[in-house]
Amino acid sequence: MTEKPCILVTRKLPDDVMARLSAGYNVIENENDETLSTKELISRASSADAILCGPTDLFNKEVLNQLPDRLKMITTFSVGYDHIDVPAAFENGIQLGNTPDVLTDATADIALLCLLGAARMAHSSAMALREGRWQKWATTQFLGIHVSGKRLGILGMGRIGQAVARRARGFDMEIHYHNRNPVTDARGLEDAIYHDSLESLLGQSDFFSINCGLSEQTFHLINDKTIDLLPKGAVIVNTARGPIIDDTALINALKSGRIAAAGLDVFENEPTLNPGYLPLENLFVLPHIGSATIETRNAMGFKCIDNLDAFFSNKPIPNPITL
Ligand code: DGY
Repeated sequence: MTEKPCILVTRKLPDDVMARLSAGYNVIENENDETLSTKELISRASSADAILCGPTDLFNKEVLNQLPDRLKMITTFSVGYDHIDVPAAFENGIQLGNTPDVLTDATADIALLCLLGAARMAHSSAMALREGRWQKWATTQFLGIHVSGKRLGILGMGRIGQAVARRARGFDMEIHYHNRNPVTDARGLEDAIYHDSLESLLGQSDFFSINCGLSEQTFHLINDKTIDLLPKGAVIVNTARGPIIDDTALINALKSGRIAAAGLDVFENEPTLNPGYLPLENLFVLPHIGSATIETRNAMGFKCIDNLDAFFSNKPIPNPITL
């Protein structure tokens, strides 16, 4: 009988995913679920044939160059792959897989939660209640921003951006977007308004939702200058990747009221929230839970296993990352 391939799993997996993975492979687990240091990652990978990693594991050129020669497959438990140097992986002959589609709805739900949570002061009002500071109903307290009928600007009209747009239509929002190209085949979004520049989109966005990937081009794309192009009192939502926003610029804009509120599921330097955010009542912030439903996380894990199964059967992987 041939030996089962050995998979290094960098993070704890949901039970059903682990059960299926262990049935087909020898698994090197990370039982305490701590993010592995680069040294630890390379050392654990020395006996592995493939890696099932997460979005918190950094695979830069230096790491990829030190993986064993036989290791030619990495599948990430995420749709985003900004943590992997894709050209460097390909130079090392490593194939890459990810988990698109299955987290679209869950992530779009969280974008709407962030949008509504920010607009309607969900955090500060709930905290006032829990901390015994709510004394009475009043006509002038916890006054948020009306959502219905407002313009929602979406940066990145891929699967998640479109799912956000469809949900926002349920709130009678007018959809604007900027994308590399206009989207012509988006079901139910035929009247969404395309902007050929970020600047133009920002100028029309009462609410601005970030749904693009992180890259050199999008790092700190939302900064002092671009924030200034939004209408005064706009709301910013980010469920994509933290470093797309310059946190210092957003903190200043929230403090001054230039930006009325922000709803963030992601932020720079996760898991450490910039202390400048902490006193801000107009911030609704979550700990990167976009895909965190058991159904979604199982589906993401199964996609990773589908990628591994195909790779070890010498078939094309179903969810490849490409350049
Ligand atoms: C992803 O898949 O990229 C998410 O950020 C993880 O939830």
